[in-house]
Amino acid sequence: MRILGIETSCDETAIAIVEGRGERLTVKKHLVASQIKIHAKYGGVVPEVAAREHLPKIDALLRRTVAADGRGIDAIAVTAGPGLITSLRVGTDVARTLAWAWGKPLVAVNHLEGHIYANWLSDGKMRFPALVLIVSGGHTELVLMKGHGKYRLLGATRDDAAGEAFDKVGKMLGLGYPGGPAVSKMAARGNVRAVKLPRPMIDSGDYDFSFAGLKTAVLYETKKRRVNVADMCASFEQAVVDVLVAKTIRAAKQYRAKTVLLAGGVAANRRLRYALSSIAHLPDLTYTTDNAAMIAAAGYFKARRREFIDPMKLEPNPNWQL
Ligand code: KG4
Ligand code: ZN
Repeated sequence: MRILGIETSCDETAIAIVEGRGERLTVKKHLVASQIKIHAKYGGVVPEVAAREHLPKIDALLRRTVAADGRGIDAIAVTAGPGLITSLRVGTDVARTLAWAWGKPLVAVNHLEGHIYANWLSDGKMRFPALVLIVSGGHTELVLMKGHGKYRLLGATRDDAAGEAFDKVGKMLGLGYPGGPAVSKMAARGNVRAVKLPRPMIDSGDYDFSFAGLKTAVLYETKKRRVNVADMCASFEQAVVDVLVAKTIRAAKQYRAKTVLLAGGVAANRRLRYALSSIAHLPDLTYTTDNAAMIAAAGYFKARRREFIDPMKLEPNPNWQL
């Protein structure tokens, strides 16, 4: 079964074709048009600008990916939430129009489910129950996955998401946008013990997170004294990783997870990958940040269960919970 994936939930326009056979997936095409340069000027994503940019980009990417009559495609999978409503609408409108015109079945995919299924795009045996750590720009969640499409939320951030904290710290330290990759690059040259920072909620006994206080602690330390930027980045990154890893391990034990999966943009972080490498399945770096191959992958498993949606009933939901 060949799935056309469409992703426009935030500031990346992405199209992919993924072929699925049984549990095995092969990426046939995978294109991402980033808007980072445009939003970098503003220090963050400007929703109206993101939505406007999606349309010409999605048109260009589709022409490079798929025949005008949709031949060879068995189903269309599109991100319907969570994300920016104006951005989501571009992708869902294009997807529903193609599904209607081509007469192909349509699948609505949750963006976070897409991040989880990025794991199925690389080798490895995934067994259930799986414990998933989702760390992106908008979400930080621990999810128990009992089977394909079966999720139970164990905990989430009460304020900033992990990626958001990285981005804000990057901005604070003058490292530009997006902060995550910049902070992580700087951190590689720093000393993780240089600055004493809190590990918020590490012993809270639940599976929730909080990163706003950590970000404030970085701001406070930066104002108090001159700290080497690399040392600050390393200390901050280590604090985030310590909390994420501690809670992931605890949850994996409590729920007797047979696999631990890492998902979301922050899954690109080297220190986090290293810390989880012995216990978790790690998604390929190519598919950690927003892309459409992961949406097609999740869409494939939904299509196998025949979870289709009428093109005329598809409504993007910016707050769609997993
Ligand atoms: O999943 P994603 O592409 O978009 C959302 O769905 O939010 O995640 C983007 C987030 C951003 O906050 C970005 O700074 C962060 O992932 N990120 C990283 C790294 N690469 C991307 N954070 C830390 N270290 C990285 N190497
Ligand atoms: Zn994402």
